[in-house]
Amino acid sequence: RYRKTIIAGNWKMNMTPSQAKALIEELKPMVSKVKWCEMVLCVPYVDIPTAVKAAKGSKIAIGAENMHFEPKGAYTGEVSADMLKECGVKYVIIGHSERRQYFNETDENVNKKVKVALEAGFRPIVCVGESLTEREQDVWYEVIRKQVKIAVQGVSVDDIKKVVIAYEPIWAIGTGKTATADQANEVCSAIRDCLRELYGARAARAITIQYGGSMNAKNAAELLSKPDVDGGLIGGASLKAPDFFAIIEAAQ
Ligand code: G3H
Repeated sequence: RYRKTIIAGNWKMNMTPSQAKALIEELKPMVSKVKWCEMVLCVPYVDIPTAVKAAKGSKIAIGAENMHFEPKGAYTGEVSADMLKECGVKYVIIGHSERRQYFNETDENVNKKVKVALEAGFRPIVCVGESLTEREQDVWYEVIRKQVKIAVQGVSVDDIKKVVIAYEPIWAIGTGKTATADQANEVCSAIRDCLRELYGARAARAITIQYGGSMNAKNAAELLSKPDVDGGLIGGASLKAPDFFAIIEAAQ
C-alpha cells in the first residue's frame, strides 16, 4: 500500500464529556497493539479537552467535526482553528453532508476551511457524496468531481497528501443501506482519478480515500479490502467501543 489506512469515528451530536471519557478508556486497551491503521475520533467541540486527555498515551488521535474559516472575530457560536489547535486536535471533518444539508455549507466554504485547516497543521477529512436522486439520475460522477475539485482548489501538491477524502453517499448515511464494496470502490477510484489529473500520479497514490455510510463490523472487511478504499468514516458504529474496534480489526 502506498498510503495508510485511516479508521475515523464521527460521533456527530452524541456523547457528553463523561461518556466520551468512558468510551475512550474502554477503547484504549483494545487498540494498544494496532499498527495497521491510524485511528481517529472526531468528537463534539465540548468533548475535545476530555477526549484528548483520555486518549493520551494511545494511538487514538482526536479530531473536530467542523471549524470556522475565519481566524477570529464576530462569529457568535463558531470555533476557530487556533482554538482547536490549542486543545490538541489533529484532524477536522470538513463539509460533512449533514453540515451541507442543515447548515448551508457550500463547496466554496469547504474550500476555505480546507485551506485554513492545512495552515493550522490539521489533516482535513473532506466529505463528498451524491444524493439518492443524483445516483438514480446517474450524475454521481459529475457531482463528486465538482465537490472534490472545488474543495481542493489552491491546495499545493505537498499539502494535498495531508488531505483525507471521505466518500459518503448521502443515501447510505445512518440508513443501514451501505454502498456495495464495488460501488464504493468505483467512486473512490473516480476520486483518485480526479486527484491524479490535478496533482499527478505520485500525489494521487498517496492520498487516503475513505468510505462512509452505515459501515459496521459486518461489512467493513469487504469494503476495506477494495484497492481504492483506504479506510472508513464511521458514524453510528463509532459510538460503542467494541463495534468501533471490530471495524479497526477488519482493516488489518
Ligand atoms: O461521518 C459518518 C457518516 O455520516 C456515516 O454515518 O455510519 O452512521 O451511517 P453512519
